[in-house]
Amino acid sequence: MKRVIDVLIYVGGILLVAAIFGYVQNADLIAQLKIIKLTEWFALMALLFLYLTLLISPLYESTLQLPGREIFLHSRKALGITALMFACLHAYYAFFYSLQGFSGLSYLPVNYRAVLGLGFASLIILFLVAIVSLGPVKRYIGNNWKVLQKFTYIAGVFILIHSALIGSHFVNLNRAIPQLYFFAVFLLLFLETIRIREWLLTRRVKFSYIIWLLLLAVLLSAYYYLAFSHAHESFHVH
Ligand code: HEM
Repeated sequence: MKRVIDVLIYVGGILLVAAIFGYVQNADLIAQLKIIKLTEWFALMALLFLYLTLLISPLYESTLQLPGREIFLHSRKALGITALMFACLHAYYAFFYSLQGFSGLSYLPVNYRAVLGLGFASLIILFLVAIVSLGPVKRYIGNNWKVLQKFTYIAGVFILIHSALIGSHFVNLNRAIPQLYFFAVFLLLFLETIRIREWLLTRRVKFSYIIWLLLLAVLLSAYYYLAFSHAHESFHVH
């Protein structure tokens, strides 16, 4: 069953790539706009698969009764590799076509280059984590691979910043994609707070529930501020 799910994820990913190419090629757009659309679609798919990879552990650890635990925990590797595939396609089109490669970099402001640097760093992290998840490498480095896998969270944080600061879908934060994005991040962090609460309880830390409630209050305030307060329309750098 685990193998079937892996195959479904990989085949699904490849079919999605083909569907995106087909859709964009047939769209009535000039060549430059087609490149922009491909860059955006691959970026959003990379974000989606990376999110699913990161969601599975906190989801299963906070809701123990959910079915399919073994299978979905196992599927994280296939989801992560699919995220890497989309990230490579996105980075390729963004760097070599939208930004005109190395020669184009020199015309960009320092802030923008720093945000691209975060994208590049997360691409390297995803690549290294994918290598570490291969059977022979895993056996060679022993239990350290579990620690190295946690670096995916760092890649996730970098991508949050990267996309919010330069993504064309994040120019206006009140639109559907940024709102969905805030909610998805809130959900992930909410599940993480449950994991932290359970960890505190197993260590018999005093006031575990109060600490949890405080964390929840901070999280809810941040979510409200970002999604509903309309304090800012955009975080974009230029
Ligand atoms: C060398 C590596 C990378 C480069 C040069 C790069 C470049 C870019 C550029 C130029 C944009 C703005 C495009 C636009 O929205 O019009 C962008 C947006 C974005 N990038 Fe990257 N990126 C890189 C790595 C990554 C990685 C590894 C991921 C995800 C795993 C990622 C996810 C995103 C997302 C989600 C957006 C927002 C897309 C949108 O709003 O439509 N990027 N990137």
